[in-house]
Amino acid sequence: MISMVQFRECLNSLRPYTPGRPIEYVQKEFNLESVIKLASNENPYGCSKKVIEAIKNFDSHSIYPDGSCLELRSKLSGMLGVGPNNLIFGSGTDELIYLLSKSIINSGDECITAEISFPQYAASVMAMDGKVTYSKMKNYAYDLNDILAKITARTKIIYISNPNNPTGTAFPKEQQLDFINKVPKNILTVFDEAYAEFMADGDMAPTETLQLTKAHENIVLLKTFSKAYGLASFRVGYAVANEYIISNLEKIRNPFNVSSIAQAAAIAALGDESFLRYTVENNQKVKKYLYDEFSSLGLPYIPSYANFIMVDIKKDSNEIFKKLMSEGLIVRPGAAYGMPTFLRVSFGALHEMEKFISVLKKYL
Ligand SMILES: Cc1ncc(COP(=O)(O)O)c(C=O)c1O
Repeated sequence: MISMVQFRECLNSLRPYTPGRPIEYVQKEFNLESVIKLASNENPYGCSKKVIEAIKNFDSHSIYPDGSCLELRSKLSGMLGVGPNNLIFGSGTDELIYLLSKSIINSGDECITAEISFPQYAASVMAMDGKVTYSKMKNYAYDLNDILAKITARTKIIYISNPNNPTGTAFPKEQQLDFINKVPKNILTVFDEAYAEFMADGDMAPTETLQLTKAHENIVLLKTFSKAYGLASFRVGYAVANEYIISNLEKIRNPFNVSSIAQAAAIAALGDESFLRYTVENNQKVKKYLYDEFSSLGLPYIPSYANFIMVDIKKDSNEIFKKLMSEGLIVRPGAAYGMPTFLRVSFGALHEMEKFISVLKKYL
């Protein structure tokens, strides 16, 4: 007789997501006065003052949110030049990734993503009893040709992070266009551009994925308010795609998945271009500072198009991770990504990175 509750078998190969260590936890454990978190690619400058203003007097706590995010939808559709029905909102893009996989993966169907990329793509597919094929990378970047070579009759969805978390790499738009023209139209092709705002100031041209969602029936663009807009705690993200894709996702969306206060925050954030510019400009300065420091320390790093960087400290990064944490610096060791001598470090404010470099030097 079976004595335990039997969960779906595909859950056996899944592990819960490991988030960056919370500040309060590290503060308490190591009895520290202050802790700098450089582990979850958050915005070190907070968020726009317009957001603070918009949520200050928020008092509709007992009313369900507007399930269709009408005001946010209308504002964003105007800004992006897409129809209101080309958008779906989620409790972070995390939720949208799960919705996408849930909507398209039958047992045994296949997904392709890169071998070192955002783990929720694979997790969401495995949760549907799908199979994940990992494409090889070239210099830690997505190799779109290898993805094409791995397509089979069972491939249903392709997840691409551009820029890629955790490696910070990106690909030029010519490569993307060539790729899209070759991907069969029955395969949902998802470009997750959680960090694309940070490419704008680099030497990589901004992506044109938004335009591509209008011209192709199988393309999804994912965007989040968690990174450049600094709204990670509110949990708002959105997808842009044609109405056919969006209408299918809408069928399985939780009715009130974006809270009222999160909607108000996102609307206000869209009204402050200057905060976005400030964030991106400072991100560039910090990046330059780190490139210089890593070079003078002789540490190889992967050039980054995002707000974090992978640096090879040429030692067991788990050990250094623990040492840094004991001094109030939370980063990510690379072992989970199969890069055991790398640390992934989010870009904090300049003074935070100066502290990071001085502590790192002590342990190298
Ligand atoms: C590539 C990528 N996609 C999606 C997410 C999820 O972001 P959110 O759910 O906060 O929108 C993250 C978070 O780190 C990410 O790195």
